[in-house]
Amino acid sequence: MRVSIAEAAFLLDEGQVVAVPTETVYGLAARLDRPNAIAKIFSLKGRPKNNPLIVHLASLDDLSKYVSELPPNLDVLARAFWPGPLTLILPAFESAIPDIVRAGLQTVAIRVPDHPLTRQLLALTGPLVMPSANISGRPSATSRAHVEYDFGEEFPILDGGECHQGVESTILHWDGRIWTVARLGALSPEDFIPVLGYAPEVMTGKKEAPLCPGQHYRHYAPKAHLILSETISSESEGVILGFIDRKYPKGCRLISLGNSSDPKEAASRLYAVLRQLDTQGIKRAYVDMNFPAAGLWLTLRERLLKAASGK
Ligand code: TXA
Ligand code: MG
Repeated sequence: MRVSIAEAAFLLDEGQVVAVPTETVYGLAARLDRPNAIAKIFSLKGRPKNNPLIVHLASLDDLSKYVSELPPNLDVLARAFWPGPLTLILPAFESAIPDIVRAGLQTVAIRVPDHPLTRQLLALTGPLVMPSANISGRPSATSRAHVEYDFGEEFPILDGGECHQGVESTILHWDGRIWTVARLGALSPEDFIPVLGYAPEVMTGKKEAPLCPGQHYRHYAPKAHLILSETISSESEGVILGFIDRKYPKGCRLISLGNSSDPKEAASRLYAVLRQLDTQGIKRAYVDMNFPAAGLWLTLRERLLKAASGK
């Protein structure tokens, strides 16, 4: 159910949960100072309590209220990428960030999102915690229709149209020496070179405990069985998630991620395409994985691997 910015602010003030757009994906928002609403987010999503939430701020100015220590380069990172699809894991002022938000950790994940409606909303409400607006484990939501599919038509949604980026924010972690990538996202490691002087190492595929507790869990998965393949051969039958400019075996049905030279387009379509499999009752699909292992393609690869593995 569509709500206006004023209605969204009112509902959030009352301690309700509202879905709001961001430039990456839709979020399920609750006010940082409404612990019951925050608890409701976990139950609505079926999210494990040990998976912490990102705190979204209206601007960088508020950061020092919530963060106890500012790592070097934080200023340049924030100036370069905020508002935008960057989340930073920082030492928390524990008294300012409820335990439930941090899942008991001493850190807090912070981002300043870049969506005009949500920025206006944040100016009215103060900090909002929001995970992606999907049932835990399922593909994220990049439109109002996706949110309604997961949470019902009566669920209050601030409708901001389709999310422009289509994949979640990139999460960086300060290890005391350098920044590393705790979750791949809309910004690629290479995007940080002009600002940091290096591309932060990607820690998400490491065997050690992931830097983001959420990486433990099943993610982005449609009900369909996905078969990832670098070479779609003539034996591949049925539905193919692939690219409009490629030729696939006769008789296959293409669900398009866009053009094979355009990772931004593929990112913006990814979750809609995965959700389409479910809404159309498709049980099995091949995925054309013949794309580079660099830049934004790296994020797409990671999301598809997770969506296919059911982990
Ligand atoms: O683009 C995004 O980041 C979207 C929009 C709505 O802002 N949000 C989003 O939230 O993707 P969520 O909850 O789906 O993913 C947040 C990830 C989880 O993997 C969680 O474990 C991790 O961030 N995280 C949150 N707080 C953390 C912390 N203090 N330390 C380590 N990881 C943290
Ligand atoms: Mg999520």
